Amino acid sequence: MFPTQVTLVDVGPRDGLQNEAAPVSAAHKIELVHRLQAAGLKEIEVTSYVSPKWVPQMADNAEVMAGIRRAPGVRYSVLTPNMKGLEGALAVPAARPDEVVVFAAASEAFSQRNINCSIAESVERFRPVVEAAHVAGLKVRAAISCAVGCPYQGEVSADEVERVVRLMKGLGVDHCGVADTIGVGTPRAVQRAMERALAHFPLVEVSGHFHDTYGQALANIYACLEMGVHTFDASVAGLGGCPYAKGATGNVATEDVVFMLHGMGIATGIDLDRLVDAGAWISGVLGRPPASRVGKALLAKRGVAVAAPASAATASSATASATA
Ligand code: HMG
Ligand code: MG
Repeated sequence: MFPTQVTLVDVGPRDGLQNEAAPVSAAHKIELVHRLQAAGLKEIEVTSYVSPKWVPQMADNAEVMAGIRRAPGVRYSVLTPNMKGLEGALAVPAARPDEVVVFAAASEAFSQRNINCSIAESVERFRPVVEAAHVAGLKVRAAISCAVGCPYQGEVSADEVERVVRLMKGLGVDHCGVADTIGVGTPRAVQRAMERALAHFPLVEVSGHFHDTYGQALANIYACLEMGVHTFDASVAGLGGCPYAKGATGNVATEDVVFMLHGMGIATGIDLDRLVDAGAWISGVLGRPPASRVGKALLAKRGVAVAAPASAATASSATASATA
């Protein structure tokens, strides 16, 4: 039985822009958030409070959070991988998020290679973050990375997913997101991972986060809808992935998910035309056409020329002139 309504969390400002090689100004990030909320998005993942050495693009987190004009009914989330991050997110009361995100991998190989510690250790580090976030009245979302595939170990089993889900549940997180970080998941594998999240969290607190590297994300969302899952992350214009890293792509484009859902008679509260405008606008800032198929199709139908594919040089100069 399909849900009649779906909540989409636009993670473009964070998951999308964190991967951009050329700097994107705080003003453009703030404008993107404004355009997303004007299009009807009720949940926006804005930025991350992580080390600027690791992710320089998110170094302006405080400026972006402080610059957002809050819209009624919209929830803003940020990534906080440690106490330093949470303290940054809480520092200015008027710029606090509604929700914070912690993330751990389902694959032991990924955890060891990336953050040089075991999954259990990485989750344990979140304990004070979760406690302090709750004391501050924030909701805590957990993201389980590499839930269907890992660049180092290959396939990831449902048992491995459930192990992290249990650890996160033990920490007291409120929500569990199942993430296909490298976009290799296919519908049945995704359903098997989702089942394990649903064994510990209610339907309303489980979501899917699918990178579209292998073009499977819409099929995976459909497979989750069949299970009744009704919250998904997506990224306007399909932002994400490094434009200079071969094969890397962003999350499924929000425009594409909205088109599919509306076509199925499932409500999102999102105005697709305004969303396409937002996707075209940020793509123009970045100097490339939107990665969204729906965005491109609707812009072509309107007779709007989309930016030509940018080389590294033109991407930088387009961004530079746009930010000047
Ligand atoms: P670390 O190096 O182990 O931490 O990093 P550390 O405690 O040793 O600190 C190293 C330096 O970073 C220190 O600075 C700290 O002050 C600073 P120094 O003394 O050398 O000048 N630092 C910080 N600065 C600002 N904010 C902070 C912070 N923490 C430490 N919060 C850490 C640990 C996790 C912080 C680091 O590895 C990091 O920031 N990594 C980036 C992780 C990240 O953002 N990944 C991408 C997002 S996750 C994602 O995209 C997946 C998701 O989309 C789901 C999916 O698709 O799978 C969610
Ligand atoms: Mg992601």
